Amino acid sequence: MARRSRHPIMAGNWKMHHNHLEAIQVVQKLSYRLELKDYDECDVVVCPAFTALRSIQTVLDADNIPMKLGAQNCHWKDDGAYTGEVSPPMLAKLNVSHVIVGHSERRQYFGETDETVNLKVKAVLKHAMTPIMCVGESLEEREAGETDVRVDTQTRGGFAGVKAADAAEAVIAYEPIWAIGTGRNATPEDANATIAIIRRTVRELYGAATADAIRILYGGSVKAGNISALMAMPEIDGGLVGGASLDPDEFARVVQYRK
Ligand code: PGA
Repeated sequence: MARRSRHPIMAGNWKMHHNHLEAIQVVQKLSYRLELKDYDECDVVVCPAFTALRSIQTVLDADNIPMKLGAQNCHWKDDGAYTGEVSPPMLAKLNVSHVIVGHSERRQYFGETDETVNLKVKAVLKHAMTPIMCVGESLEEREAGETDVRVDTQTRGGFAGVKAADAAEAVIAYEPIWAIGTGRNATPEDANATIAIIRRTVRELYGAATADAIRILYGGSVKAGNISALMAMPEIDGGLVGGASLDPDEFARVVQYRK
């Protein structure tokens, strides 16, 4: 089956939680709970706040932990007079491998648009990191039957000008806004169907090889209790996990969803 050739990803999005001391503890506890084979079976990514990136990088390096480090956002310029922003080369220098781009909270509260998301996706790829580009519909859009159009538009907008080889390496996270932090996850069937739409858009843009290669995650109230059912769906290649990733025990169970 096609999806078996795609390596799953479980990414923890800690949002504005865990100072750097707490973050170190969570990563250490998580690494005690995970076995080496868990990292072979899926990419494990933690995305702490900027203030914890350096500390966690040091822990991962010192203990040779094969966990990957992600950031939650970045600017698209390499440097410049942009007070308060963090650039892709700064992240790359910290061994950051993944950057969440265009999370719905950033779109909703910080004015991010498909255009700025696109600039960020390209900037992250330029510095050899993997963007985790978020797309997803609001409850109003879902109820109006606009889900498919919404994710198609966001995918096209976010990938404008991105080459096929780069697109194949990128990651998309489908996160219905109504499912984020609400305890109300999309059914595995609904998530699968919308991710199939996103993959169809990628196929239209880049062809079948890229569509088969690109990993598309589901996010929105993922937890240990629902991840196996989600991962049983052929289109779902992993999870972008918020609340459940803050607790190392719970996140370890998400990573070990096959058990
Ligand atoms: P949640 O958040 O798992 O807490 O719903 C997911 C996300 O926003 O990435």
